[in-house]
Amino acid sequence: MSIKKRKMEHIEVTLYGDVDGITSTLMSDVDLVHQAIPGFSIEEINIGTKFLKKEISAPFMITGMTGGSEELMLINSTIAEVAENIGIPMGVGSQRIAIENSEAEESFRIARKKAPSIPLIANIGYPQLANYTVKEIDKLINLIEADALAVHLNVAQEVFQPEGETNYYFEYLEKLVDLSRSLDIPLIVKETGCGISMETANLLEKHGISYVDISGAGGTSWIGVEMIRGQRRNNPKSKSAKLFANWGIPTAASIIETRYVMNNAFIIGSGGIRNGLDVAKAIALGSNISGFALPALGEVIRGKASLTEFLQSVIFELKVGMLLTGSKDVKQLHKVPLVISSKLLNWIQARGIEVLKYEEIRKHIDGKLY
Ligand SMILES: Cc1cc2nc3c(=O)[nH]c(=O)nc-3n(C[C@H](O)[C@H](O)[C@H](O)COP(=O)(O)O)c2cc1C
Repeated sequence: MSIKKRKMEHIEVTLYGDVDGITSTLMSDVDLVHQAIPGFSIEEINIGTKFLKKEISAPFMITGMTGGSEELMLINSTIAEVAENIGIPMGVGSQRIAIENSEAEESFRIARKKAPSIPLIANIGYPQLANYTVKEIDKLINLIEADALAVHLNVAQEVFQPEGETNYYFEYLEKLVDLSRSLDIPLIVKETGCGISMETANLLEKHGISYVDISGAGGTSWIGVEMIRGQRRNNPKSKSAKLFANWGIPTAASIIETRYVMNNAFIIGSGGIRNGLDVAKAIALGSNISGFALPALGEVIRGKASLTEFLQSVIFELKVGMLLTGSKDVKQLHKVPLVISSKLLNWIQARGIEVLKYEEIRKHIDGKLY
Protein backbone atom coordinates (compact mmCIF):
# COMPACT_ATOMS: atom_id res chain seq x y z
CA MET A 1 0.00 0.00 0.00
CA SER A 2 1.32 3.49 -0.84
CA ILE A 3 2.25 5.85 2.01
CA LYS A 4 -0.50 8.22 0.80
CA LYS A 5 -3.23 5.54 0.98
CA ARG A 6 -2.00 4.43 4.39
CA LYS A 7 -2.09 8.02 5.71
CA MET A 8 -5.69 8.40 4.50
CA GLU A 9 -6.68 5.14 6.17
CA HIS A 10 -5.00 6.28 9.41
CA ILE A 11 -7.12 9.43 9.42
CA GLU A 12 -10.30 7.45 8.78
CA VAL A 13 -9.55 4.81 11.45
CA THR A 14 -8.51 7.31 14.13
CA LEU A 15 -11.65 9.35 13.47
CA TYR A 16 -14.21 6.58 13.17
CA GLY A 17 -12.64 3.48 14.73
CA ASP A 18 -12.76 2.97 18.49
CA VAL A 19 -9.11 3.71 19.21
CA ASP A 20 -9.16 6.56 21.72
CA GLY A 21 -8.85 5.96 25.47
CA ILE A 22 -8.55 2.16 25.28
CA THR A 23 -6.45 2.49 28.42
CA SER A 24 -6.15 5.28 31.01
CA THR A 25 -3.70 8.19 31.06
CA LEU A 26 -3.96 7.88 34.89
CA MET A 27 -4.66 11.62 35.02
CA SER A 28 -7.71 10.60 37.10
CA ASP A 29 -5.23 9.51 39.81
CA VAL A 30 -3.91 13.08 40.06
CA ASP A 31 -5.74 15.66 42.16
CA LEU A 32 -4.64 19.27 42.11
CA VAL A 33 -5.34 20.72 45.55
CA HIS A 34 -8.12 23.34 45.69
CA GLN A 35 -7.29 26.80 47.06
CA ALA A 36 -10.39 28.58 48.34
CA ILE A 37 -8.74 32.02 48.26
CA PRO A 38 -6.57 32.13 45.09
CA GLY A 39 -5.65 35.80 45.62
CA PHE A 40 -6.47 37.02 42.08
CA SER A 41 -9.23 36.89 39.48
CA ILE A 42 -9.40 34.67 36.39
CA GLU A 43 -8.83 37.72 34.15
CA GLU A 44 -5.40 38.27 35.75
CA ILE A 45 -4.05 34.81 34.85
CA ASN A 46 -1.22 34.76 32.31
CA ILE A 47 -1.03 31.45 30.41
CA GLY A 48 1.58 32.67 27.93
CA THR A 49 4.98 31.02 27.83
CA LYS A 50 7.99 30.56 25.52
CA PHE A 51 8.76 27.65 23.25
CA LEU A 52 11.60 27.43 20.71
CA LYS A 53 12.51 31.06 21.34
CA LYS A 54 9.01 32.27 20.46
CA GLU A 55 6.27 33.63 22.68
CA ILE A 56 3.18 31.39 22.62
CA SER A 57 -0.18 32.41 23.98
CA ALA A 58 -1.03 29.12 25.74
CA PRO A 59 1.09 26.24 27.07
CA PHE A 60 -0.11 23.53 24.70
CA MET A 61 0.33 22.52 21.06
CA ILE A 62 -1.25 20.47 18.33
CA THR A 63 1.14 17.59 17.77
CA GLY A 64 2.15 16.18 14.39
CA MET A 65 -0.43 14.29 12.38
CA THR A 66 -0.42 14.55 8.67
CA GLY A 67 0.49 15.77 5.19
CA GLY A 68 1.16 14.08 1.87
CA SER A 69 -1.84 14.64 -0.40
CA GLU A 70 -4.34 17.34 -1.37
CA GLU A 71 -6.94 16.14 1.14
CA LEU A 72 -4.33 15.98 3.87
CA MET A 73 -3.08 19.43 2.88
CA LEU A 74 -6.49 20.79 3.79
CA ILE A 75 -6.12 19.38 7.31
CA ASN A 76 -2.67 20.98 7.75
CA SER A 77 -3.95 24.24 6.30
CA THR A 78 -6.91 24.44 8.70
CA ILE A 79 -4.85 23.52 11.76
CA ALA A 80 -2.15 26.03 10.81
CA GLU A 81 -4.59 28.88 10.32
CA VAL A 82 -6.34 28.29 13.63
CA ALA A 83 -3.10 27.66 15.54
CA GLU A 84 -1.68 30.92 14.15
CA ASN A 85 -4.82 32.85 15.19
CA ILE A 86 -4.70 31.46 18.70
CA GLY A 87 -0.88 31.62 18.92
CA ILE A 88 -0.03 28.00 19.75
CA PRO A 89 2.61 25.69 18.19
CA MET A 90 1.84 23.01 15.63
CA GLY A 91 3.57 19.89 14.37
CA VAL A 92 3.16 18.37 10.92
CA GLY A 93 3.00 14.61 10.31
CA SER A 94 5.84 12.44 9.08
CA GLN A 95 7.48 14.12 6.08
CA ARG A 96 9.05 10.95 4.72
CA ILE A 97 6.54 11.06 1.85
CA ALA A 98 7.94 14.44 0.75
CA ILE A 99 11.43 12.97 0.39
CA GLU A 100 10.10 10.18 -1.78
CA ASN A 101 7.60 12.25 -3.77
CA SER A 102 8.05 15.96 -4.42
CA GLU A 103 4.32 16.33 -5.22
CA ALA A 104 3.69 15.91 -1.50
CA GLU A 105 5.76 18.96 -0.58
CA GLU A 106 2.97 21.52 -0.87
CA SER A 107 0.83 19.70 1.72
CA PHE A 108 3.51 20.56 4.29
CA ARG A 109 4.59 23.95 2.92
CA ILE A 110 1.02 25.17 3.42
CA ALA A 111 1.52 25.06 7.20
CA ARG A 112 4.12 27.85 7.14
CA LYS A 113 2.13 29.80 4.55
CA LYS A 114 -0.89 29.82 6.85
CA ALA A 115 1.09 30.18 10.05
CA PRO A 116 3.93 32.65 9.56
CA SER A 117 4.76 33.26 13.21
CA ILE A 118 4.08 30.26 15.46
CA PRO A 119 6.62 27.51 16.24
CA LEU A 120 6.25 24.78 13.59
CA ILE A 121 7.75 21.34 14.07
CA ALA A 122 9.01 19.14 11.25
CA ASN A 123 8.68 15.34 11.58
CA ILE A 124 10.53 12.17 10.59
CA GLY A 125 10.62 8.58 11.94
CA TYR A 126 13.54 7.15 13.92
CA PRO A 127 14.21 4.24 11.50
CA GLN A 128 14.45 6.73 8.63
CA LEU A 129 17.56 8.25 10.23
CA ALA A 130 19.40 5.31 8.69
CA ASN A 131 18.27 6.06 5.15
CA TYR A 132 18.27 9.80 4.71
CA THR A 133 21.09 12.30 4.48
CA VAL A 134 21.31 15.49 6.50
CA LYS A 135 20.69 17.35 3.23
CA GLU A 136 17.39 15.51 2.68
CA ILE A 137 16.27 16.14 6.24
CA ASP A 138 17.29 19.79 5.91
CA LYS A 139 15.00 20.02 2.90
CA LEU A 140 12.06 18.85 5.01
CA ILE A 141 12.88 21.42 7.66
CA ASN A 142 13.09 24.19 5.06
CA LEU A 143 9.72 23.24 3.57
CA ILE A 144 8.02 24.63 6.66
CA GLU A 145 10.87 26.81 7.98
CA ALA A 146 10.63 24.62 11.05
CA ASP A 147 11.63 25.77 14.52
CA ALA A 148 12.45 22.18 15.56
CA LEU A 149 12.57 18.68 14.11
CA ALA A 150 10.63 15.90 15.84
CA VAL A 151 12.02 12.40 15.43
CA HIS A 152 9.15 10.08 16.22
CA LEU A 153 9.31 6.68 17.90
CA ASN A 154 6.52 4.24 17.04
CA VAL A 155 7.96 0.75 17.31
CA ALA A 156 4.75 -0.55 18.95
CA GLN A 157 2.76 0.46 15.88
CA GLU A 158 5.33 -0.65 13.33
CA VAL A 159 5.47 -4.19 14.74
CA PHE A 160 1.78 -4.71 13.89
CA GLN A 161 1.86 -2.86 10.59
CA PRO A 162 2.30 -5.18 7.58
CA GLU A 163 4.72 -2.69 6.01
CA GLY A 164 6.25 -1.74 9.40
CA GLU A 165 9.93 -1.20 10.23
CA THR A 166 11.07 -2.43 13.62
CA ASN A 167 14.75 -1.56 13.27
CA TYR A 168 14.97 0.64 16.34
CA TYR A 169 18.70 0.19 16.86
CA PHE A 170 20.74 1.96 19.55
CA GLU A 171 23.21 2.87 16.77
CA TYR A 172 20.70 5.35 15.35
CA LEU A 173 21.10 7.35 18.55
CA GLU A 174 24.56 8.24 17.26
CA LYS A 175 22.96 9.40 14.02
CA LEU A 176 20.60 11.46 16.13
CA VAL A 177 23.60 13.10 17.81
CA ASP A 178 25.25 13.81 14.43
CA LEU A 179 22.02 15.18 13.03
CA SER A 180 21.47 17.40 16.00
CA ARG A 181 25.03 18.79 15.58
CA SER A 182 24.45 19.56 11.91
CA LEU A 183 21.10 21.29 12.34
CA ASP A 184 20.66 24.79 13.65
CA ILE A 185 17.31 23.99 15.24
CA PRO A 186 16.60 21.73 18.23
CA LEU A 187 15.70 18.11 17.85
CA ILE A 188 12.68 16.77 19.73
CA VAL A 189 12.39 13.05 20.37
CA LYS A 190 8.70 12.17 20.31
CA GLU A 191 6.76 9.04 21.18
CA THR A 192 3.40 8.40 19.54
CA GLY A 193 1.17 7.07 22.32
CA CYS A 194 3.21 4.53 24.31
CA GLY A 195 5.24 6.92 26.48
CA ILE A 196 8.87 7.47 27.46
CA SER A 197 10.27 5.45 30.39
CA MET A 198 13.08 6.37 32.80
CA GLU A 199 15.35 3.97 30.89
CA THR A 200 14.64 5.62 27.52
CA ALA A 201 14.90 9.07 29.11
CA ASN A 202 18.35 8.07 30.39
CA LEU A 203 19.42 7.02 26.89
CA LEU A 204 18.17 10.29 25.44
CA GLU A 205 19.85 12.36 28.11
CA LYS A 206 23.15 10.54 27.54
CA HIS A 207 22.89 11.43 23.86
CA GLY A 208 22.38 15.10 24.58
CA ILE A 209 18.66 15.25 23.77
CA SER A 210 16.92 17.96 25.75
CA TYR A 211 13.48 18.21 24.14
CA VAL A 212 11.08 15.29 24.57
CA ASP A 213 7.41 14.79 23.70
CA ILE A 214 6.54 11.85 25.93
CA SER A 215 3.23 11.05 24.14
CA GLY A 216 2.04 8.51 26.69
CA ALA A 217 -0.71 5.90 26.65
CA GLY A 218 -4.38 6.67 27.26
CA GLY A 219 -5.24 8.54 24.07
CA THR A 220 -4.95 7.42 20.46
CA SER A 221 -3.79 3.80 20.38
CA TRP A 222 -1.73 3.12 17.28
CA ILE A 223 -1.71 -0.57 18.08
CA GLY A 224 -5.53 -0.28 18.06
CA VAL A 225 -5.36 1.43 14.67
CA GLU A 226 -3.23 -1.36 13.20
CA MET A 227 -5.55 -3.95 14.79
CA ILE A 228 -8.50 -2.49 12.85
CA ARG A 229 -6.48 -2.21 9.64
CA GLY A 230 -5.35 -5.81 10.08
CA GLN A 231 -8.91 -7.07 10.70
CA ARG A 232 -9.98 -5.54 7.40
CA ARG A 233 -7.38 -7.61 5.58
CA ASN A 234 -7.62 -10.79 7.66
CA ASN A 235 -4.08 -10.21 8.81
CA PRO A 236 -3.31 -12.79 11.54
CA LYS A 237 -1.26 -10.14 13.40
CA SER A 238 -4.47 -8.26 14.23
CA LYS A 239 -5.42 -10.83 16.93
CA SER A 240 -2.10 -10.22 18.63
CA ALA A 241 -2.57 -6.46 18.23
CA LYS A 242 -5.76 -6.78 20.31
CA LEU A 243 -3.69 -8.28 23.12
CA PHE A 244 -1.40 -5.24 23.11
CA ALA A 245 -4.03 -2.54 22.42
CA ASN A 246 -3.71 -1.06 25.93
CA TRP A 247 0.10 -1.28 25.95
CA GLY A 248 2.23 1.64 27.03
CA ILE A 249 3.20 3.92 29.88
CA PRO A 250 0.19 5.99 30.99
CA THR A 251 0.77 9.66 30.19
CA ALA A 252 0.77 10.78 33.86
CA ALA A 253 3.35 8.10 34.75
CA SER A 254 5.50 8.89 31.71
CA ILE A 255 5.65 12.61 32.55
CA ILE A 256 6.82 11.73 36.07
CA GLU A 257 9.36 9.13 34.84
CA THR A 258 10.84 11.47 32.24
CA ARG A 259 11.05 14.51 34.51
CA TYR A 260 12.61 12.37 37.26
CA VAL A 261 15.51 11.55 34.94
CA MET A 262 15.69 14.60 32.67
CA ASN A 263 15.47 17.33 35.30
CA ASN A 264 16.30 20.19 32.93
CA ALA A 265 14.72 18.96 29.70
CA PHE A 266 11.87 20.67 27.88
CA ILE A 267 9.03 18.16 28.21
CA ILE A 268 5.86 18.14 26.14
CA GLY A 269 3.27 16.16 28.13
CA SER A 270 0.92 14.61 25.58
CA GLY A 271 -1.07 11.45 24.84
CA GLY A 272 -4.77 11.39 25.76
CA ILE A 273 -4.88 15.06 26.75
CA ARG A 274 -8.49 15.95 26.08
CA ASN A 275 -9.31 19.19 27.94
CA GLY A 276 -7.82 22.13 29.82
CA LEU A 277 -7.80 20.31 33.17
CA ASP A 278 -5.64 17.58 31.59
CA VAL A 279 -3.29 20.34 30.36
CA ALA A 280 -3.10 21.80 33.89
CA LYS A 281 -2.34 18.37 35.37
CA ALA A 282 0.29 17.60 32.71
CA ILE A 283 2.09 20.86 33.54
CA ALA A 284 1.75 20.42 37.31
CA LEU A 285 3.23 16.90 36.98
CA GLY A 286 6.35 18.26 35.29
CA SER A 287 5.73 19.09 31.62
CA ASN A 288 6.71 22.49 30.26
CA ILE A 289 3.79 22.47 27.85
CA SER A 290 1.14 19.91 26.90
CA GLY A 291 -0.24 18.78 23.55
CA PHE A 292 -2.85 16.71 21.74
CA ALA A 293 -3.52 15.33 18.29
CA LEU A 294 -6.80 13.42 17.83
CA PRO A 295 -9.18 15.96 19.42
CA ALA A 296 -7.86 18.61 17.01
CA LEU A 297 -8.39 16.29 14.04
CA GLY A 298 -11.98 15.61 15.15
CA GLU A 299 -12.70 19.36 15.19
CA VAL A 300 -10.89 20.08 11.90
CA ILE A 301 -13.36 17.83 10.09
CA ARG A 302 -16.15 20.11 11.37
CA GLY A 303 -14.24 23.23 10.29
CA LYS A 304 -12.19 26.17 11.52
CA ALA A 305 -14.86 27.53 13.85
CA SER A 306 -15.19 24.17 15.64
CA LEU A 307 -11.44 23.87 16.16
CA THR A 308 -11.26 27.45 17.42
CA GLU A 309 -14.14 26.88 19.83
CA PHE A 310 -12.53 23.69 21.14
CA LEU A 311 -9.15 25.38 21.72
CA GLN A 312 -10.86 28.27 23.47
CA SER A 313 -12.63 25.86 25.80
CA VAL A 314 -9.28 24.19 26.56
CA ILE A 315 -7.88 27.65 27.42
CA PHE A 316 -10.85 28.43 29.67
CA GLU A 317 -10.63 25.08 31.50
CA LEU A 318 -6.87 25.54 31.97
CA LYS A 319 -7.45 28.99 33.45
CA VAL A 320 -10.11 27.60 35.80
CA GLY A 321 -7.64 24.92 36.91
CA MET A 322 -5.04 27.65 37.47
CA LEU A 323 -7.44 29.91 39.37
CA LEU A 324 -8.54 27.08 41.67
CA THR A 325 -4.94 26.09 42.44
CA GLY A 326 -3.82 29.68 42.97
CA SER A 327 -1.51 29.69 39.90
CA LYS A 328 -1.28 33.11 38.33
CA ASP A 329 1.11 31.90 35.63
CA VAL A 330 2.60 28.71 34.20
CA LYS A 331 5.65 28.86 36.50
CA GLN A 332 3.35 28.77 39.54
CA LEU A 333 1.45 25.83 38.06
CA HIS A 334 4.68 23.75 38.20
CA LYS A 335 4.72 24.25 41.97
CA VAL A 336 1.11 23.52 43.00
CA PRO A 337 0.46 20.86 45.62
CA LEU A 338 -0.94 17.68 44.16
CA VAL A 339 -2.07 14.29 45.42
CA ILE A 340 -1.21 11.09 43.57
CA SER A 341 -3.32 8.03 44.36
CA SER A 342 -4.33 4.50 43.31
CA LYS A 343 -2.57 2.95 40.31
CA LEU A 344 -0.35 5.98 39.65
CA LEU A 345 0.91 5.88 43.24
CA ASN A 346 1.58 2.14 42.91
CA TRP A 347 3.35 2.80 39.62
CA ILE A 348 5.77 5.38 40.99
CA GLN A 349 6.47 3.27 44.08
CA ALA A 350 7.10 0.15 41.98
CA ARG A 351 9.48 2.15 39.80
CA GLY A 352 11.52 3.34 42.79
CA ILE A 353 10.65 7.01 42.32
CA GLU A 354 11.24 8.89 45.57
CA VAL A 355 8.29 11.22 46.05
CA LEU A 356 10.20 13.93 47.96
CA LYS A 357 12.97 13.99 45.35
CA TYR A 358 10.39 14.17 42.54
CA GLU A 359 8.59 17.02 44.35
CA GLU A 360 11.87 18.97 44.55
CA ILE A 361 12.57 18.38 40.84
CA ARG A 362 9.15 19.41 39.56
CA LYS A 363 9.12 22.57 41.67
CA HIS A 364 12.43 23.69 40.17
CA ILE A 365 11.70 23.24 36.49
CA ASP A 366 14.28 25.19 34.57
CA GLY A 367 13.24 27.85 32.09
CA LYS A 368 16.58 27.80 30.25
CA LEU A 369 15.40 25.85 27.21
CA TYR A 370 12.26 27.87 26.66
C1 LIG B 1 -4.21 10.80 12.39
C2 LIG B 1 -2.95 10.87 13.18
C3 LIG B 1 -1.74 10.80 12.51
C4 LIG B 1 -0.54 10.88 13.23
N1 LIG B 1 0.66 10.89 12.54
C5 LIG B 1 1.81 11.13 13.21
C6 LIG B 1 3.04 11.34 12.52
O1 LIG B 1 3.10 11.27 11.29
N2 LIG B 1 4.16 11.60 13.26
C7 LIG B 1 4.12 11.68 14.63
O2 LIG B 1 5.14 11.96 15.25
N3 LIG B 1 2.97 11.46 15.31
C8 LIG B 1 1.83 11.20 14.64
N4 LIG B 1 0.65 11.04 15.34
C9 LIG B 1 0.72 10.89 16.81
C10 LIG B 1 0.31 12.13 17.58
O3 LIG B 1 1.17 13.22 17.33
C11 LIG B 1 0.25 11.85 19.10
O4 LIG B 1 1.55 11.61 19.59
C12 LIG B 1 -0.62 10.65 19.47
O5 LIG B 1 -1.73 10.56 18.60
C13 LIG B 1 -1.13 10.75 20.90
O6 LIG B 1 -1.84 11.93 21.12
P1 LIG B 1 -3.47 11.97 21.18
O7 LIG B 1 -3.89 10.93 22.16
O8 LIG B 1 -3.79 13.36 21.61
O9 LIG B 1 -3.95 11.67 19.79
C14 LIG B 1 -0.56 10.98 14.64
C15 LIG B 1 -1.79 11.05 15.31
C16 LIG B 1 -2.97 11.00 14.61
C17 LIG B 1 -4.27 11.06 15.35
